[in-house]
Amino acid sequence: MSQHFQHDVLVIGSGAAGLSLALTLPGHLDVAVLSKGDLANGSTFWAQGGVAAVLDDADTVQSHVEDTLNAGGGLCNEDAVRFTVEHSREAIQWLIDLGVPFTRDDPSTVVDGGFEFHLTREGGHSHRRIIHAADATGAAIFRTLLAQAKARPNIELLEQRVAVDLITESRLGLEGQRCLGAYVLDRSTGEVDTHSARFTILASGGAAKVYLYTSNPDGACGDGIAMAWRSGCRVGNLEFNQFHPTCLYHPQAKSFLVTEALRGEGAYLKLPNGERFMQRFDPRAELAPRDIVARAIDHEMKRLGADCVFLDISHQSEDFIKSHFPTVYERCLTFGIDITRQPIPVVPAAHYTCGGVLVDQQGRTDVPGLYAIGETSFTGLHGANRMASNSLLECFVYARSAAADIVTQLDHVPQPQNLPAWDSSQVTDSDQDVIIAHNWDELRRFMWDYVGIVRTNKRLQRAQHRVRLLQDEIDEFYSNYKVSRDLIELRNLAQVAELMIASAMARKESRGLHYTLDYPDMLPEALDTILVPPTFAG
Ligand code: FAD
Ligand code: SIN
Repeated sequence: MSQHFQHDVLVIGSGAAGLSLALTLPGHLDVAVLSKGDLANGSTFWAQGGVAAVLDDADTVQSHVEDTLNAGGGLCNEDAVRFTVEHSREAIQWLIDLGVPFTRDDPSTVVDGGFEFHLTREGGHSHRRIIHAADATGAAIFRTLLAQAKARPNIELLEQRVAVDLITESRLGLEGQRCLGAYVLDRSTGEVDTHSARFTILASGGAAKVYLYTSNPDGACGDGIAMAWRSGCRVGNLEFNQFHPTCLYHPQAKSFLVTEALRGEGAYLKLPNGERFMQRFDPRAELAPRDIVARAIDHEMKRLGADCVFLDISHQSEDFIKSHFPTVYERCLTFGIDITRQPIPVVPAAHYTCGGVLVDQQGRTDVPGLYAIGETSFTGLHGANRMASNSLLECFVYARSAAADIVTQLDHVPQPQNLPAWDSSQVTDSDQDVIIAHNWDELRRFMWDYVGIVRTNKRLQRAQHRVRLLQDEIDEFYSNYKVSRDLIELRNLAQVAELMIASAMARKESRGLHYTLDYPDMLPEALDTILVPPTFAG
């Protein structure tokens, strides 16, 4: 039997964005935080490099703003950038106060009254401004936030719950557009429950799983973007898929990122013959923004017919490497690569979804009562290419801003009543699991081939044709069979792929992460690609 639950705030996602929002809300609110797998399911846990913020006295807000604008290829929303950077210090202080064990600086190098934490550097940053916990920053942050959330009696953490769709007034045929909660598959019972909520938050992460090769964990399927779109929210800039330049290239290494902080601490990118090449592509060489580095690697691999390039930090001391990069060191060693002595074979892989659900500075979407924060949102911060370590920062700043906005509305938003249960009377158990798995594979493969680092009109048209065929088949499964996590994700991945392709086709230029051979130049005017759903709520 399906069940009905009531919450003040329903948070879909237990990563940096979702947990930060839950912890910032007042303790008298009943808050439920969902994760579709275990609580560490999202990208947050795997974040390596750190969080960008203006923390050093020699650094300035203006400098961080300018670096972000430069990396973003002229497409960032400057208000969003300034807002995020201006709130960076207080967001980091909040994390420090909660107890996140950031790496401390060598005490002998800290001047009196100076900042006591070590700051590293990454591509596009003109200062050292990345606070980190060695090379496992995400795990350190996640564990701290989770421990804090577990200690709060008002926060309920619900694992293995997959949000299927949002419940809105318009979906129920009522007057108005407000979001009233979500239908959620409980994987332990197989039932779809009704979760009603005064406020619903999409904190469900990105969509890099749409590509065959990715640094992301399995759940990064763009569920929040697809659910928001179906509920009438506009989405923006979904053509800007960031490929991280350096993921470990090894047949047994699935999705292992080699942090950009290695390059920040002096690592060189090299061709198979040992020659450095990045200086041929950009004066900043290895520390150019990611779009430039990933494209350069792609170019060199294609030119030479090479399977990978190499990242070499072996000229640094063994102690330095082991203390700054213990995770990368250990992981590479399990594959027989000793990074203190050998270069690391690396390739680019899909890493981050720069676009997403359109929101304002409070994280409000087009649908009243529905917020989107973190990687699932499109705030305007990243423009055409996200600068390293600005993503976690965005999670914290917008989570805190959305929480503050919810507080201002508490008095006028009642608990939704009498929501109908999910109707599963017309569906049967699926006997199509193998086909669903093959569809997953097909989608991710053609997205990699046709909507990758270098695009053309022809490739995009092919991708569009194929995604539409797949969508017809998926719609049929969805109408006839009981929902499963795989089917929900496949439906969402196909939806987001379609939106990414449509966005890429709409952009008749090359800018930032979107590079097409048919329009290799950048247009003089920088415009966002905003897609409006047929059911637009605005
Ligand atoms: P996530 O942490 O991805 O969490 C998503 C949550 O949503 C999960 O709990 C998931 O279970 C849940 N969810 C999704 N769909 C549903 C559904 N349908 N129903 C219920 N729950 C759902 N950024 C930086 O700034 N610095 C870094 O150093 C850095 N390193 C990175 C390294 C790696 C390997 C990766 C993959 C990313 C890295 N990033 C980094 C990017 C950054 O980690 C992510 O953008 C950020 O963690 C996203 O946080 P989030 O809270 O938005 O989502
Ligand atoms: C990394 O550590 O290289 C990832 C940083 C990021 O994605 O911002």
